[in-house]
Amino acid sequence: MVELNNGKEILRADDLYHVYETEAVDGNVVGLRGIYIKVHQKEVVSVVGPSGSGKSTLMKCLGGLMTPTAGDIFYEGNSIARLNAQELLHLRQRTVSFVFQDSNLLPYMNVVNNVALPLKYLKVSPGKARRKAMELLERLGVKDQAKMLPPQVSGGEKQRIAIARALITKPKIILADEPTGSVDLVTSRDILKLFREIIEEVNVSFLVVTHSREVTEFSDRSLELIDGRFVAEHGSNINVSNLSDTRKIIIDKTGNMTIPSEILSTIGGPGIFEPTKVELDEINLVRFNEEDTVPDTVAEKPAKFCLACGTEYESSQSDSCSKCGAIRTKL
Ligand SMILES: Nc1ncnc2c1ncn2[C@@H]1O[C@H](COP(=O)(O)OP(=O)(O)O)[C@@H](O)[C@H]1O
Ligand SMILES: [Mg+2]
Repeated sequence: MVELNNGKEILRADDLYHVYETEAVDGNVVGLRGIYIKVHQKEVVSVVGPSGSGKSTLMKCLGGLMTPTAGDIFYEGNSIARLNAQELLHLRQRTVSFVFQDSNLLPYMNVVNNVALPLKYLKVSPGKARRKAMELLERLGVKDQAKMLPPQVSGGEKQRIAIARALITKPKIILADEPTGSVDLVTSRDILKLFREIIEEVNVSFLVVTHSREVTEFSDRSLELIDGRFVAEHGSNINVSNLSDTRKIIIDKTGNMTIPSEILSTIGGPGIFEPTKVELDEINLVRFNEEDTVPDTVAEKPAKFCLACGTEYESSQSDSCSKCGAIRTKL
């Protein structure tokens, strides 16, 4: 496989599944069905897909907030599958941070303490944690809001504060679930410019769930999630309002491929396809039509000998065997 990014691998998932067990009569819900993903250092990767396609499930599994039903996740090449809860927590705190759509700031705690909170969990002294938090708030242009409570600041400011809080532990990757969803366009462009500067400064990668054209165009690439599987990849020229324009279909490590529904209907629906051309970097599939292999003329020809007793039929008109009475078949 051709690796487009030569940077260090930060996050990888191999054949990830997640099943939600439910009491519903129609059974369990499969959130993820065989996810492969790799994110490299300083890479910005978007995840796009319809509501219910598994985007939030994926982010929770990748971030270690939820245990996948099957498959493995690697942080900088280290598998997290066999870590106990304590080991996982430590690795997660050093590697991954989250930014959620609603920013998840504690409403009763002032901004600077919200930002400093992750360092408190890492047992950094309160004074040092607050100093670091102030530095980041300044960097993100929201220093004046330090003493305010989250409900007193604007949506755009909240996102900047949430990013400051995500950065304070010096993570390798930030997982963001629709971070600009509640922010207006101008503010989100501002945030994105800041993202790029921060990426260069601190070598962080971003994996971002988004519906926003600004975010996808800013990303190095976008992965399209449908029904729990990555179906296609898109470059920075992605057209979010018509994904079929920019889609590059993914064939994963196990050889699985999902055909998007528009393509499926164009080719005339499901069926069996013959690989008529298989070469390096190229495959051609042509519908295999079983009827084509048995010409109609042959199929309609009556058998010469009785299949039951082997007696030759007396004439081309006989429809049963004169010896055993078995019905004459067509071959
Ligand atoms: N706690 C849960 N219990 C049962 N099903 C769930 C739960 N959370 C999500 N799902 C289902 O899993 C699928 C993926 O959900 P989700 O990851 O939230 O999608 P997205 O973020 O792309 O909208 C959906 O069918 C959703 O209904
Ligand atoms: Mg979601």
